[in-house]
Amino acid sequence: MFGKRGRTGTEGGGSGSLAMGGMRERAPDSPPVVTLPPPPAGVMPASMPSAPVAPPPRMRSDSFYETKSQIFGALIEAIDLSQLARLDAASAREEIRDIINEIIAIKNIVMSISEQEELLEDICNDVLGYGPLEPLLARDDIADIMVNGAETIYIEVAGKIERSGIRFRDNQQLLNICQRIVSQIGRRVDESSPICDARLPDGSRVNVIAPPLSIDGPALTIRKFKRDKLTLDQLERFGSITPEGAEVLKIIGRCRVNTLISGGTGSGKTTLLNCLTRYIDDDERIITCEDAAELQLQQPHVVRLETRPPNLEGEGQVTMRDLVRNCLRMRPERIIVGEVRGPEAFDLMQAMNTGHDGSMGTLHANSPREALSRLESMITMGGFSLPSRTLREMIVSSIDVIVQAARLRDGSRRITHITEVLGMEGDVIITQDLFVYEILGEDANGRVVGRHKSTGIGRPRFWDRAKYYGEDARLARALDAAEVADSGRA
Ligand SMILES: Nc1ncnc2c1ncn2[C@@H]1O[C@H](COP(=O)(O)OP(=O)(O)OP(=O)(O)O)[C@@H](O)[C@H]1O
Ligand SMILES: [Mg+2]
Repeated sequence: MFGKRGRTGTEGGGSGSLAMGGMRERAPDSPPVVTLPPPPAGVMPASMPSAPVAPPPRMRSDSFYETKSQIFGALIEAIDLSQLARLDAASAREEIRDIINEIIAIKNIVMSISEQEELLEDICNDVLGYGPLEPLLARDDIADIMVNGAETIYIEVAGKIERSGIRFRDNQQLLNICQRIVSQIGRRVDESSPICDARLPDGSRVNVIAPPLSIDGPALTIRKFKRDKLTLDQLERFGSITPEGAEVLKIIGRCRVNTLISGGTGSGKTTLLNCLTRYIDDDERIITCEDAAELQLQQPHVVRLETRPPNLEGEGQVTMRDLVRNCLRMRPERIIVGEVRGPEAFDLMQAMNTGHDGSMGTLHANSPREALSRLESMITMGGFSLPSRTLREMIVSSIDVIVQAARLRDGSRRITHITEVLGMEGDVIITQDLFVYEILGEDANGRVVGRHKSTGIGRPRFWDRAKYYGEDARLARALDAAEVADSGRA
């Protein structure tokens, strides 16, 4: 026990207390404002991975928050956070539990057992973890958590965005938690540096933008990390792609076809890239470049690289372009770029053109055509003054296939195109779809109805490549089966 028991009147109770000096004086009812220290080692990882799916939280009353704030205040006075940080997760929770039970008894707070449990859980989460976010982080069915100031938290469940019943006590508590998250990667978020990207220990991607830039309180966005990444077989089962389409993608992944995955925000680009990498042969040397490591390659010979934002003094930034250029000196066989969004597009094209076949990347665009023009404008905006025809020729000789992902209006995700880049006709890049998804309408429940269909192309441009890898017969079978399946569906 190491609570500062004197303040809460618990002196004499429990085992010998470690009273700490420097207690803050404040009016008993003022809301506690504390900058929480980073949680003790082992606390978060233990609480986060694949925890059981918790029931959706219900809205709580203001009196719950008032009582919580009162108890929280007393707890912070009673406890020494630096010592707490040295304990493992379970003992730290046990310690907090004991003290809170004593506070409730001494202050004569009346509450039911279940309320008391809920409150205990909440306060433990505040002190040791990510406060109100903990139950959301523990749920495996949530893809994104979007906090728009203390009062409003949205989550994405099964492709749909909905408001959760959870809220923070106030913006200060929210900012404290943002601070804790970013401090783990040695950064700070405040008025002078209000924008920050970070990562939770479990790999979830985090973005924080604080006031004054975000007007109604700090905005925190978390893309939850999925330990068990979706596979092509699962995408097939979800109806995101047909079995024949999936088969073609597997062949594309294996046969070192240069591939761009295009799609909007949260459409499943990274998931798809991860799926494709599963079919890379084990003996290839792969180098991945990402802003925040999300890919999980299964192969043994992988080097993972990550960009770095500038530090507080604005120095030390390592951009995606730096990484891609460096990786050319690392004897890669394939280069995988998590997200192409700037001048690194040029270097990736160069790499694809110079013997690093089978390189891949994702990019934000709403159609394969748009992906091509985005690529062109990223290169132009990077300051390369190449005539547009030369640029297009370079794109054509680099990119073989574009796979388009989309999140439809009902929240479902589909692979809407597998498109080949064929060549140039005059100044125009010619493409050819192998598979497309056609939207037919909407059913009574508002779900999008549509179908994948093959375009009847028997010999894609990467046919010779497939032959070289001994996959031509499999490719022919998949394309034939797609046609048969289409006529069956028609
Ligand atoms: N076909 C699918 N069916 C169901 N869920 C999917 C599918 N593809 C991806 N998801 C889920 O959607 C979420 C977003 O996927 P992902 O991170 O791959 O998207 P993204 O396009 O890379 O997003 P961003 O633009 O933010 O990088 C993840 O939780 C992922 O598990
Ligand atoms: Mg992504």
